[in-house]
Amino acid sequence: MSKKIIRRDFINSVALAGAGIAMGVPNISTGKTLNGKPAILGGAKSHTGAFPGWPFFDKTEETGLADVLKSKAWGRLNGGVVARFEKEYSQMLGAKYSLGVSSGTSALTTILGALEVGPGDEIIIPVYTFVATYNVVVLNYALPILADTDIESFQMDATKVQAAITPQTKAIMPVHIGGSPADIDAFVELGKKNNLPIIEDACQAHLAEWKGKKVGNFGIAGAFSFQSSKNLNCAEGGAITTNDEAFIRNCYNFHNQGQGGKTTAYTPGVGTRATNLRLTEFQGSLLLSQMTRVAEQSNRRWENAQYLTQLLKEIPGIIPAKLYPGTTRSAYHLYMFRYDKNHFAGLSRSKFLEALSAEGVPNSVGYGQMNKDSYVTGLAKNKHYLKIYGEKTMQEWLERNQCPQNDALTSEQSVWLFQNMLLGTKKEMEQIAEGIRKIQKYAAEIAKK
Ligand SMILES: Cc1ncc(COP(=O)(O)O)c(C=O)c1O
Repeated sequence: MSKKIIRRDFINSVALAGAGIAMGVPNISTGKTLNGKPAILGGAKSHTGAFPGWPFFDKTEETGLADVLKSKAWGRLNGGVVARFEKEYSQMLGAKYSLGVSSGTSALTTILGALEVGPGDEIIIPVYTFVATYNVVVLNYALPILADTDIESFQMDATKVQAAITPQTKAIMPVHIGGSPADIDAFVELGKKNNLPIIEDACQAHLAEWKGKKVGNFGIAGAFSFQSSKNLNCAEGGAITTNDEAFIRNCYNFHNQGQGGKTTAYTPGVGTRATNLRLTEFQGSLLLSQMTRVAEQSNRRWENAQYLTQLLKEIPGIIPAKLYPGTTRSAYHLYMFRYDKNHFAGLSRSKFLEALSAEGVPNSVGYGQMNKDSYVTGLAKNKHYLKIYGEKTMQEWLERNQCPQNDALTSEQSVWLFQNMLLGTKKEMEQIAEGIRKIQKYAAEIAKK
């Protein structure tokens, strides 16, 4: 069966390659000709086979994990692997301190814990983010204020934040979404002007840089995730970076039941609330092994993404997400672009994406409208929130969370490609662009399908 499919694909591609030469639609960027019809209309796929899988591992991981196993020191309170990871992670990021924790969510929770955020406080976050950014605020019974999106960059719009600040605001938490830096200088300025800490949610942004400095170094602290899909991965894990010694001590205490140092002996910290969010030695070991490849992978994503952007910018109606001028490196956890159906004979985004999948190019529409999700709007009826803030404030909160730019971006424009695709070859970047060109050429026909 699979042999038959391979053979039919071969015949199709040979036939269509011939037709392509005859039809001769030139590709401006590559100088090659297109291969005839899109795959959704029976043509050959632009990209056959699979993009690189994720994650990678070799003997380095196997040896590291086996060593931890044999040591019988499996937790950070017993061994020294997590501590070694923290040293290397801070060195890699150019931060004075880092703390390994059990997830990116735990990193954000610990930062909010160390800042003693609680009921009555407001935290400004972007509407366009993974729901964890919202959840960590709500778990503290604080009020998440959702700021609108800069449609060009997909990042939180810094120009909308000043108006969202009230006397209750306790922190501003921009997210470097997709691994591209948010408008950092603008947020640092807002923080200074309003005397508010900036928390960088850098969960997707390992090794991203702003003016040559790694993200996670610009606010009071940065939070990173090492969950399976992330550019640095140990299944579940996270880290906090900071350049403030007192702050890292408070974070350590918070993630270790209020106790400082490496032991369980009681040494009082500053805070009065804490929990257990420790990373294990196994995860620390996996991270140290994965870190032997992270810089090379980051370079490859960056180079491929730059090339892809160059190709896609030549296609009318495909608008790669803008990088702010301070960006010297995006982690490209996601490759984000906008789709304008007006340049595709009115072809809907969902049909465009179906056609792109048929070309062998995985994709997603990405995040939606968190402010309108019943999971979020339901907070206005949460009994504890009503008790803390009252009905009037919660109704006003719903109003404050209107985000028209985000509505426009997410309802029919946003498209994502994934980090592992950017670990592919230059040729594969050309095939992504070629697939989109074919879809554009036949858009009217696909729309009728
Ligand atoms: C922007 C953002 N914040 C927070 C998190 C939470 O990280 P984790 O899944 O490791 O808890 C993620 C993870 O997907 C994320 O993308």
